[in-house]
Amino acid sequence: MYKAIIFDVYGTIFDMSSLENDMTQFDDELAASISKLWRKTQLNHMFLRQIMQRYIPFDYLTKDALRYVLDEHKIQYNRDDINQLFDAFLDLNYFNEIPRVLSSLNGKGFDIGILSNGNDSMLMPLVDNSKISDYINTVISVDEIKQYKPSPASYALILEYYKMIREDILFVSSNSWDVTGAANFGFDTVWVNRKGEQYDDNGQSPTITVNNLNEMAKWLEMNK
Ligand code: LAC
Repeated sequence: MYKAIIFDVYGTIFDMSSLENDMTQFDDELAASISKLWRKTQLNHMFLRQIMQRYIPFDYLTKDALRYVLDEHKIQYNRDDINQLFDAFLDLNYFNEIPRVLSSLNGKGFDIGILSNGNDSMLMPLVDNSKISDYINTVISVDEIKQYKPSPASYALILEYYKMIREDILFVSSNSWDVTGAANFGFDTVWVNRKGEQYDDNGQSPTITVNNLNEMAKWLEMNK
């Protein structure tokens, strides 16, 4: 049985589509297009920088990605605009079932942690604003080692924090690249496929696939 359940943050606990909510200066269609390309570019920068071994903190990287996206959309901006749009990352909505599932897992004795590519200045306000901080025992940022997920070193941080072996950990993510990285490191994994997407296979498959975290909680109950 697992001792700790570790969650990815963006897209897994928090809904990236809520980025659009704060883009009141744009119409809905433009806001949707910006937020979608923003996330895609953010991930692309992350992978490139990891491969090049040119780490910068995730807030800087996220702002770089935003500047590219606004340029792409031919939107002019100044520093305040960037900061205002970036602030949406500190106040994302969590998915509906999150508080109930996390508190029930907590009650069953699982240690609940998060491992994110976000740095502390992004993660701490987000977790605090969301009022789910009570259920999260450990917040781990890759900033500590300056290696983004899906590098093996990033997942190894979990073992270091918890002083556990791989078999004690269940890693949960909605991002298939993250499931791939965690499985590659040797963790059992849950892929949370909320939108019925196709798994982007790179040689590692999830231990289970669920549509939401309620299903994961049921699976844990059955596999006790
Ligand atoms: C995370 C992102 C990048 O690590 O999904 O939380």
